[in-house]
Amino acid sequence: MRILLIGDIVGKPGQRIVVQTLKALRAREQIDLVVANAENALDGSGLSPSIYKKLIGASVDCITLGDHIYRRNEICSVLNSESNIVKPANYPPKAPGKNWAVVTAASGEQVAVFSLLGRVFMKPVDCPFQAAERVLAEIPAEVKIRVLDFHAEATSDKQLMGRMLAGRVSAVVGTHTHVTTADEQILPGGTAFQCDLGMTGPHESILGRRIDRVMETTITFQPTQFDVATGDVQLHGSLVDIDPATGQATAIRRLVIKQAEADALAMQTAAQPAEPMN
Ligand SMILES: [Fe+2]
Ligand SMILES: [Fe+2]
Repeated sequence: MRILLIGDIVGKPGQRIVVQTLKALRAREQIDLVVANAENALDGSGLSPSIYKKLIGASVDCITLGDHIYRRNEICSVLNSESNIVKPANYPPKAPGKNWAVVTAASGEQVAVFSLLGRVFMKPVDCPFQAAERVLAEIPAEVKIRVLDFHAEATSDKQLMGRMLAGRVSAVVGTHTHVTTADEQILPGGTAFQCDLGMTGPHESILGRRIDRVMETTITFQPTQFDVATGDVQLHGSLVDIDPATGQATAIRRLVIKQAEADALAMQTAAQPAEPMN
């Protein structure tokens, strides 16, 4: 079975390219399940209930977040009530949200998804490595396909998490830096690994924000509004192939969809006959 993991969706441009392409992409790439990081989906920071619904409606199966998870209070009810969205599992136990989710792929397999936050240049949280052990002990043994989004700054921590969980989970992929890394590989024991999936949003930017604004504030210290940029929108993610019998990954491939290809995929979706109502 094949899972698409999508890197940080940033603002309206990020939402738009996901909505525009995902259904056609699922058919083209024979994708059974989609997991997306949506911590920047709302104007570059946070997530709202309506954008959550929009992404699920666009055929995202499970949502992970990160350090911007609670930027908007309204998302807390979704985090508490919905079964296909997780908080970082090394946040305090009383923080809104679930530590892991089990979602069903189009191919019928159950897939466990969890997320952890790094501690280097980030808000102090519990040890992500010990939290990973806690989560793995909780996930039912029969759920063999297990995916971790490690939302962290340091590539060393991400490599360490990959090595610690090699052979014990299907995939350890990173998010948060918004920069796609070229280190995708299958670790010993069948764990797909990549330091960072990259960013789904405007690439003519500083990590998704307007270049001129970030430049001005950085150089002059004059405060400005770091609005989401608009140019060169791209979808970045990776496709992971997994043997459902063992939960072991057999392949990982980077996927980049630029605007021209996104437009072509959107036309394919529009050309498809509407699904019957019953
Ligand atoms: Fe992010
Ligand atoms: Fe982040």
